[in-house]
Amino acid sequence: QQLKLSLEQIEKGGYEHFMLKEIFEQPKSIHDTMRGRLLVEEGVIKMAGIWDHVERFKNANRIIIIACGTSWHAGLIGEYLIEEYARIPVEVEYASEFRYRNPIITDKDVVIAISQSGETADTMAALKLAKEKGAFIYGICNVVDSSIARITDAGSYTHAGPEIGVASTKAFTAQLTILTLIAFKLGKHNGNLGNADFMSLIAELDAIPKRVEEVLSSTHEQIQQIAKDFVSTSNFLYLGRGYNYPAALEGALKLKEISYIHAEGYPAAEMKHGPIALIDENMPIVIIAPKKGHYDKIVSNVQEIKARKGKIIAVVNKGDRQVSEMADYVIEIPETSECFSPIVASVPLQLLAYYIAVYRGANVDQPRNLAKSVTVE
Ligand code: G6P
Repeated sequence: QQLKLSLEQIEKGGYEHFMLKEIFEQPKSIHDTMRGRLLVEEGVIKMAGIWDHVERFKNANRIIIIACGTSWHAGLIGEYLIEEYARIPVEVEYASEFRYRNPIITDKDVVIAISQSGETADTMAALKLAKEKGAFIYGICNVVDSSIARITDAGSYTHAGPEIGVASTKAFTAQLTILTLIAFKLGKHNGNLGNADFMSLIAELDAIPKRVEEVLSSTHEQIQQIAKDFVSTSNFLYLGRGYNYPAALEGALKLKEISYIHAEGYPAAEMKHGPIALIDENMPIVIIAPKKGHYDKIVSNVQEIKARKGKIIAVVNKGDRQVSEMADYVIEIPETSECFSPIVASVPLQLLAYYIAVYRGANVDQPRNLAKSVTVE
Protein backbone atom coordinates (compact mmCIF):
# COMPACT_ATOMS: atom_id res chain seq x y z
CA GLN A 1 0.00 0.00 0.00
CA GLN A 2 2.80 2.37 1.01
CA LEU A 3 4.68 1.62 -2.19
CA LYS A 4 1.56 2.00 -4.34
CA LEU A 5 0.85 5.39 -2.84
CA SER A 6 4.29 6.71 -3.47
CA LEU A 7 4.27 5.43 -7.06
CA GLU A 8 1.02 7.25 -7.61
CA GLN A 9 2.51 10.38 -6.11
CA ILE A 10 5.44 10.15 -8.49
CA GLU A 11 3.01 9.77 -11.39
CA LYS A 12 1.21 12.89 -10.27
CA GLY A 13 4.46 14.79 -10.61
CA GLY A 14 3.94 16.93 -7.52
CA TYR A 15 0.33 17.81 -8.28
CA GLU A 16 -2.40 16.90 -5.85
CA HIS A 17 -4.49 15.22 -8.52
CA PHE A 18 -4.04 13.84 -12.01
CA MET A 19 -6.65 16.28 -13.23
CA LEU A 20 -4.62 19.30 -12.15
CA LYS A 21 -1.47 17.81 -13.64
CA GLU A 22 -3.30 17.20 -16.90
CA ILE A 23 -4.71 20.73 -16.97
CA PHE A 24 -1.18 22.07 -16.59
CA GLU A 25 0.17 19.72 -19.24
CA GLN A 26 -1.91 21.36 -21.94
CA PRO A 27 0.73 23.66 -23.41
CA LYS A 28 2.79 20.53 -23.99
CA SER A 29 -0.04 18.23 -25.11
CA ILE A 30 -1.30 20.77 -27.64
CA HIS A 31 2.24 21.27 -28.87
CA ASP A 32 2.81 17.51 -29.11
CA THR A 33 -0.40 17.14 -31.08
CA MET A 34 0.85 19.66 -33.65
CA ARG A 35 4.43 18.45 -33.70
CA GLY A 36 5.50 17.15 -37.11
CA ARG A 37 2.13 18.18 -38.53
CA LEU A 38 2.19 21.94 -38.43
CA LEU A 39 5.15 23.27 -40.40
CA VAL A 40 4.68 27.00 -40.09
CA GLU A 41 7.69 28.15 -42.07
CA GLU A 42 6.90 25.91 -45.01
CA GLY A 43 3.23 26.84 -44.77
CA VAL A 44 2.22 23.19 -44.65
CA ILE A 45 -0.01 20.99 -42.54
CA LYS A 46 1.08 17.39 -42.84
CA MET A 47 -1.57 14.83 -42.00
CA ALA A 48 -1.18 11.60 -43.87
CA GLY A 49 -4.62 10.32 -42.84
CA ILE A 50 -6.28 13.31 -44.46
CA TRP A 51 -3.94 13.65 -47.41
CA ASP A 52 -4.20 10.02 -48.48
CA HIS A 53 -7.97 10.37 -48.67
CA VAL A 54 -8.32 14.03 -49.48
CA GLU A 55 -10.64 13.39 -52.43
CA ARG A 56 -13.03 11.52 -50.12
CA PHE A 57 -13.19 14.60 -47.93
CA LYS A 58 -13.31 17.03 -50.82
CA ASN A 59 -16.17 15.22 -52.53
CA ALA A 60 -18.05 14.32 -49.38
CA ASN A 61 -21.73 15.18 -49.29
CA ARG A 62 -21.22 15.94 -45.66
CA ILE A 63 -19.12 15.06 -42.68
CA ILE A 64 -20.85 13.49 -39.71
CA ILE A 65 -19.01 13.70 -36.42
CA ILE A 66 -20.00 11.13 -33.81
CA ALA A 67 -18.84 11.05 -30.22
CA CYS A 68 -19.94 11.02 -26.58
CA GLY A 69 -19.35 13.31 -23.61
CA THR A 70 -16.49 15.76 -23.83
CA SER A 71 -15.49 14.38 -27.23
CA TRP A 72 -18.95 15.32 -28.49
CA HIS A 73 -18.32 18.90 -27.37
CA ALA A 74 -15.06 18.87 -29.33
CA GLY A 75 -17.12 17.63 -32.28
CA LEU A 76 -19.46 20.62 -32.03
CA ILE A 77 -16.49 22.96 -32.22
CA GLY A 78 -15.22 20.85 -35.13
CA GLU A 79 -18.46 21.65 -36.93
CA TYR A 80 -17.85 25.38 -36.60
CA LEU A 81 -14.24 24.96 -37.73
CA ILE A 82 -14.82 22.71 -40.74
CA GLU A 83 -17.86 24.61 -41.97
CA GLU A 84 -16.13 27.98 -41.61
CA TYR A 85 -12.79 27.10 -43.17
CA ALA A 86 -13.46 24.15 -45.48
CA ARG A 87 -17.12 24.92 -46.27
CA ILE A 88 -18.08 21.24 -46.08
CA PRO A 89 -21.44 20.62 -44.36
CA VAL A 90 -21.00 19.00 -40.96
CA GLU A 91 -23.42 17.33 -38.58
CA VAL A 92 -22.57 16.32 -35.06
CA GLU A 93 -24.35 13.48 -33.35
CA TYR A 94 -24.32 11.65 -30.08
CA ALA A 95 -23.12 8.18 -31.00
CA SER A 96 -25.89 6.64 -28.90
CA GLU A 97 -28.61 8.47 -30.83
CA PHE A 98 -27.04 7.99 -34.22
CA ARG A 99 -26.84 4.23 -33.94
CA TYR A 100 -30.47 3.71 -33.02
CA ARG A 101 -32.26 6.06 -35.34
CA ASN A 102 -31.66 4.41 -38.70
CA PRO A 103 -29.56 7.28 -40.05
CA ILE A 104 -29.30 7.99 -43.76
CA ILE A 105 -25.69 7.26 -44.66
CA THR A 106 -24.18 6.68 -48.07
CA ASP A 107 -20.75 6.06 -49.49
CA LYS A 108 -20.54 9.81 -50.16
CA ASP A 109 -20.46 10.54 -46.44
CA VAL A 110 -17.43 10.87 -44.24
CA VAL A 111 -17.91 9.91 -40.61
CA ILE A 112 -15.42 11.17 -38.06
CA ALA A 113 -15.42 9.49 -34.66
CA ILE A 114 -13.83 11.37 -31.79
CA SER A 115 -12.85 9.34 -28.75
CA GLN A 116 -10.17 9.82 -26.15
CA SER A 117 -10.15 6.17 -25.11
CA GLY A 118 -11.01 4.72 -28.49
CA GLU A 119 -13.15 2.20 -26.62
CA THR A 120 -16.50 3.89 -26.04
CA ALA A 121 -19.13 1.27 -26.88
CA ASP A 122 -21.71 3.62 -28.41
CA THR A 123 -19.13 5.34 -30.61
CA MET A 124 -17.77 2.00 -31.72
CA ALA A 125 -21.24 0.67 -32.61
CA ALA A 126 -22.13 3.88 -34.49
CA LEU A 127 -18.94 3.58 -36.51
CA LYS A 128 -19.64 -0.02 -37.41
CA LEU A 129 -23.06 1.00 -38.66
CA ALA A 130 -21.60 3.83 -40.75
CA LYS A 131 -19.02 1.48 -42.18
CA GLU A 132 -21.67 -1.08 -43.14
CA LYS A 133 -23.47 1.64 -45.04
CA GLY A 134 -20.34 2.44 -46.99
CA ALA A 135 -19.20 5.68 -45.35
CA PHE A 136 -15.53 6.49 -45.11
CA ILE A 137 -14.71 6.40 -41.44
CA TYR A 138 -12.03 8.49 -39.77
CA GLY A 139 -10.87 8.32 -36.17
CA ILE A 140 -9.56 10.94 -33.78
CA CYS A 141 -8.36 8.94 -30.80
CA ASN A 142 -5.87 9.44 -28.03
CA VAL A 143 -5.16 5.81 -27.21
CA VAL A 144 -2.95 4.23 -29.83
CA ASP A 145 -4.20 0.95 -31.26
CA SER A 146 -7.53 1.24 -29.46
CA SER A 147 -10.60 -0.49 -30.90
CA ILE A 148 -11.88 2.62 -32.68
CA ALA A 149 -8.43 3.44 -34.05
CA ARG A 150 -8.30 -0.08 -35.47
CA ILE A 151 -11.62 -0.18 -37.26
CA THR A 152 -11.40 3.23 -38.90
CA ASP A 153 -10.19 3.60 -42.50
CA ALA A 154 -7.78 6.35 -41.47
CA GLY A 155 -7.28 8.76 -38.62
CA SER A 156 -5.16 11.14 -36.62
CA TYR A 157 -4.04 10.44 -33.10
CA THR A 158 -4.13 13.18 -30.55
CA HIS A 159 -0.79 13.07 -28.79
CA ALA A 160 -2.06 14.21 -25.42
CA GLY A 161 -0.36 11.39 -23.52
CA PRO A 162 -2.22 9.16 -21.06
CA GLU A 163 -5.17 10.90 -19.44
CA ILE A 164 -5.91 9.47 -16.00
CA GLY A 165 -8.43 11.93 -14.53
CA VAL A 166 -11.91 10.75 -15.44
CA ALA A 167 -12.95 14.26 -16.42
CA SER A 168 -11.30 14.93 -19.74
CA THR A 169 -9.12 18.04 -20.03
CA LYS A 170 -5.96 17.73 -22.09
CA ALA A 171 -7.55 15.18 -24.44
CA PHE A 172 -10.28 17.73 -25.20
CA THR A 173 -7.88 20.52 -26.17
CA ALA A 174 -5.83 18.02 -28.19
CA GLN A 175 -9.01 17.02 -30.05
CA LEU A 176 -9.66 20.68 -30.81
CA THR A 177 -6.12 20.99 -32.09
CA ILE A 178 -6.59 18.09 -34.51
CA LEU A 179 -9.95 19.41 -35.69
CA THR A 180 -8.37 22.82 -36.31
CA LEU A 181 -5.58 21.25 -38.34
CA ILE A 182 -8.11 19.24 -40.37
CA ALA A 183 -10.29 22.29 -41.05
CA PHE A 184 -7.33 24.41 -42.16
CA LYS A 185 -5.86 21.62 -44.26
CA LEU A 186 -9.11 20.87 -46.07
CA GLY A 187 -9.87 24.57 -46.51
CA LYS A 188 -6.48 25.23 -48.01
CA HIS A 189 -6.80 22.25 -50.31
CA ASN A 190 -10.29 23.00 -51.59
CA GLY A 191 -9.55 26.69 -52.00
CA ASN A 192 -11.90 28.03 -49.37
CA LEU A 193 -9.07 29.22 -47.18
CA GLY A 194 -6.81 31.61 -49.07
CA ASN A 195 -3.07 31.46 -48.63
CA ALA A 196 -2.65 34.69 -46.65
CA ASP A 197 -5.36 33.74 -44.16
CA PHE A 198 -4.00 30.21 -43.95
CA MET A 199 -0.52 31.50 -43.17
CA SER A 200 -1.68 33.86 -40.47
CA LEU A 201 -3.98 31.27 -38.91
CA ILE A 202 -1.30 28.60 -38.72
CA ALA A 203 1.14 31.09 -37.18
CA GLU A 204 -1.46 31.84 -34.54
CA LEU A 205 -2.16 28.15 -33.98
CA ASP A 206 1.53 27.56 -33.48
CA ALA A 207 1.48 30.09 -30.63
CA ILE A 208 -1.57 28.59 -28.89
CA PRO A 209 0.53 26.49 -26.46
CA LYS A 210 2.11 29.77 -25.33
CA ARG A 211 -1.29 31.41 -24.94
CA VAL A 212 -2.44 28.44 -22.83
CA GLU A 213 0.68 28.75 -20.72
CA GLU A 214 -0.11 32.43 -20.14
CA VAL A 215 -3.67 31.65 -19.11
CA LEU A 216 -2.55 28.99 -16.69
CA SER A 217 -0.12 31.28 -14.95
CA SER A 218 -2.26 34.40 -14.97
CA THR A 219 -5.51 32.79 -13.78
CA HIS A 220 -4.47 29.92 -11.51
CA GLU A 221 -4.35 31.80 -8.21
CA GLN A 222 -7.27 34.01 -9.00
CA ILE A 223 -9.49 31.04 -9.78
CA GLN A 224 -8.66 29.42 -6.45
CA GLN A 225 -10.06 32.56 -4.79
CA ILE A 226 -13.14 32.67 -6.99
CA ALA A 227 -13.86 28.98 -6.38
CA LYS A 228 -14.07 29.58 -2.62
CA ASP A 229 -17.16 31.71 -3.12
CA PHE A 230 -19.05 28.92 -4.88
CA VAL A 231 -18.45 25.92 -2.68
CA SER A 232 -22.03 25.87 -1.42
CA THR A 233 -23.72 26.76 -4.67
CA SER A 234 -26.18 24.25 -6.05
CA ASN A 235 -26.66 25.50 -9.62
CA PHE A 236 -24.59 27.12 -12.34
CA LEU A 237 -25.27 28.38 -15.83
CA TYR A 238 -22.61 28.61 -18.53
CA LEU A 239 -23.22 30.74 -21.58
CA GLY A 240 -21.35 31.41 -24.78
CA ARG A 241 -22.04 32.10 -28.43
CA GLY A 242 -20.56 30.80 -31.67
CA TYR A 243 -17.45 28.75 -31.06
CA ASN A 244 -17.84 29.34 -27.36
CA TYR A 245 -21.29 27.86 -27.09
CA PRO A 246 -19.80 24.33 -27.08
CA ALA A 247 -17.09 25.66 -24.75
CA ALA A 248 -19.91 26.65 -22.36
CA LEU A 249 -21.35 23.12 -22.59
CA GLU A 250 -17.96 21.69 -21.78
CA GLY A 251 -17.41 24.10 -18.87
CA ALA A 252 -20.74 23.02 -17.38
CA LEU A 253 -19.98 19.33 -17.92
CA LYS A 254 -16.63 19.66 -16.12
CA LEU A 255 -18.32 21.23 -13.12
CA LYS A 256 -21.12 18.69 -12.84
CA GLU A 257 -18.84 15.70 -13.38
CA ILE A 258 -16.47 16.45 -10.55
CA SER A 259 -18.23 18.79 -8.11
CA TYR A 260 -21.76 17.32 -8.40
CA ILE A 261 -23.15 20.83 -8.73
CA HIS A 262 -25.93 21.03 -11.26
CA ALA A 263 -24.67 23.04 -14.21
CA GLU A 264 -26.12 23.76 -17.61
CA GLY A 265 -24.48 25.15 -20.67
CA TYR A 266 -26.52 27.17 -23.14
CA PRO A 267 -26.03 29.28 -26.21
CA ALA A 268 -26.30 32.77 -24.71
CA ALA A 269 -29.14 33.86 -26.99
CA GLU A 270 -31.26 30.88 -25.96
CA MET A 271 -31.27 32.17 -22.40
CA LYS A 272 -34.45 34.09 -23.11
CA HIS A 273 -36.24 30.87 -24.06
CA GLY A 274 -36.05 29.33 -20.64
CA PRO A 275 -32.97 29.65 -18.44
CA ILE A 276 -33.57 33.35 -17.81
CA ALA A 277 -36.41 32.27 -15.54
CA LEU A 278 -33.81 30.74 -13.22
CA ILE A 279 -31.75 33.89 -12.79
CA ASP A 280 -31.75 35.62 -9.44
CA GLU A 281 -29.08 36.75 -6.97
CA ASN A 282 -28.27 33.13 -6.13
CA MET A 283 -27.51 32.02 -9.66
CA PRO A 284 -23.89 32.16 -10.80
CA ILE A 285 -23.49 32.53 -14.55
CA VAL A 286 -20.22 31.90 -16.30
CA ILE A 287 -20.19 33.88 -19.50
CA ILE A 288 -17.55 33.41 -22.16
CA ALA A 289 -17.19 36.74 -23.92
CA PRO A 290 -14.00 37.22 -25.91
CA LYS A 291 -13.74 40.28 -28.14
CA LYS A 292 -13.93 38.36 -31.39
CA GLY A 293 -17.18 36.50 -31.68
CA HIS A 294 -20.54 38.22 -31.23
CA TYR A 295 -19.24 40.46 -28.47
CA ASP A 296 -21.97 43.09 -28.76
CA LYS A 297 -24.63 40.42 -28.59
CA ILE A 298 -23.04 38.99 -25.48
CA VAL A 299 -22.98 42.45 -23.91
CA SER A 300 -26.74 42.63 -24.16
CA ASN A 301 -27.10 39.13 -22.71
CA VAL A 302 -24.96 40.22 -19.77
CA GLN A 303 -27.15 43.30 -19.28
CA GLU A 304 -30.19 41.05 -19.05
CA ILE A 305 -28.46 38.90 -16.43
CA LYS A 306 -27.33 41.95 -14.49
CA ALA A 307 -30.86 43.34 -14.42
CA ARG A 308 -31.93 40.12 -12.71
CA LYS A 309 -29.03 40.27 -10.25
CA GLY A 310 -27.34 37.08 -11.46
CA LYS A 311 -23.74 36.64 -10.28
CA ILE A 312 -21.56 37.04 -13.33
CA ILE A 313 -18.24 35.30 -13.79
CA ALA A 314 -16.95 36.65 -17.08
CA VAL A 315 -14.22 35.15 -19.21
CA VAL A 316 -13.03 38.08 -21.32
CA ASN A 317 -10.01 39.30 -23.22
CA LYS A 318 -7.37 41.40 -21.51
CA GLY A 319 -8.38 45.05 -21.44
CA ASP A 320 -12.10 44.33 -21.78
CA ARG A 321 -14.36 47.09 -20.42
CA GLN A 322 -18.03 46.61 -21.20
CA VAL A 323 -18.63 43.10 -19.91
CA SER A 324 -16.05 43.46 -17.14
CA GLU A 325 -17.82 46.51 -15.69
CA MET A 326 -20.97 44.47 -15.20
CA ALA A 327 -19.28 41.30 -13.97
CA ASP A 328 -18.78 40.24 -10.37
CA TYR A 329 -15.66 38.24 -11.29
CA VAL A 330 -13.45 38.83 -14.31
CA ILE A 331 -11.14 36.17 -15.71
CA GLU A 332 -8.88 37.46 -18.45
CA ILE A 333 -7.63 35.40 -21.36
CA PRO A 334 -5.43 36.57 -24.25
CA GLU A 335 -7.11 37.69 -27.44
CA THR A 336 -7.06 35.19 -30.30
CA SER A 337 -8.96 34.63 -33.51
CA GLU A 338 -12.40 33.35 -32.64
CA CYS A 339 -11.69 29.80 -33.79
CA PHE A 340 -8.99 29.36 -31.12
CA SER A 341 -10.92 30.89 -28.26
CA PRO A 342 -12.56 27.64 -27.07
CA ILE A 343 -9.10 26.20 -26.39
CA VAL A 344 -7.96 29.22 -24.42
CA ALA A 345 -11.30 29.78 -22.65
CA SER A 346 -11.65 26.14 -21.59
CA VAL A 347 -8.54 26.26 -19.45
CA PRO A 348 -9.83 28.61 -16.71
CA LEU A 349 -13.15 26.75 -16.75
CA GLN A 350 -11.34 23.49 -16.10
CA LEU A 351 -9.51 25.13 -13.19
CA LEU A 352 -12.74 26.58 -11.82
CA ALA A 353 -14.46 23.18 -11.86
CA TYR A 354 -11.38 21.59 -10.34
CA TYR A 355 -11.06 23.99 -7.40
CA ILE A 356 -14.76 24.09 -6.60
CA ALA A 357 -14.72 20.27 -6.50
CA VAL A 358 -11.57 20.14 -4.38
CA TYR A 359 -13.01 22.61 -1.86
CA ARG A 360 -16.15 20.49 -1.66
CA GLY A 361 -13.98 17.51 -0.78
CA ALA A 362 -14.91 15.58 -3.91
CA ASN A 363 -12.79 12.84 -5.41
CA VAL A 364 -11.89 14.79 -8.54
CA ASP A 365 -9.88 12.10 -10.29
CA GLN A 366 -12.54 9.46 -9.81
CA PRO A 367 -15.94 11.07 -9.52
CA ARG A 368 -18.76 8.89 -8.29
CA ASN A 369 -20.70 6.88 -10.88
CA LEU A 370 -18.40 7.83 -13.77
CA ALA A 371 -15.89 5.76 -15.68
CA LYS A 372 -12.97 6.83 -17.79
CA SER A 373 -13.84 4.48 -20.55
CA VAL A 374 -17.45 3.45 -21.06
CA THR A 375 -17.36 0.08 -22.75
CA VAL A 376 -21.02 -0.77 -22.15
CA GLU A 377 -23.90 0.95 -23.88
C1 G6P B 1 -16.82 8.97 -20.39
C2 G6P B 1 -15.77 9.87 -19.79
C3 G6P B 1 -15.81 11.25 -20.43
C4 G6P B 1 -15.66 11.10 -21.93
C5 G6P B 1 -16.69 10.16 -22.52
C6 G6P B 1 -16.38 9.81 -23.95
O1 G6P B 1 -18.09 9.41 -20.03
O2 G6P B 1 -15.97 9.99 -18.39
O3 G6P B 1 -14.76 12.06 -19.93
O4 G6P B 1 -15.77 12.37 -22.53
O5 G6P B 1 -16.71 8.93 -21.81
O6 G6P B 1 -15.19 9.06 -23.94
P1 G6P B 1 -14.23 8.90 -25.17
O7 G6P B 1 -13.11 8.04 -24.64
O8 G6P B 1 -15.00 8.21 -26.25
O9 G6P B 1 -13.76 10.25 -25.58
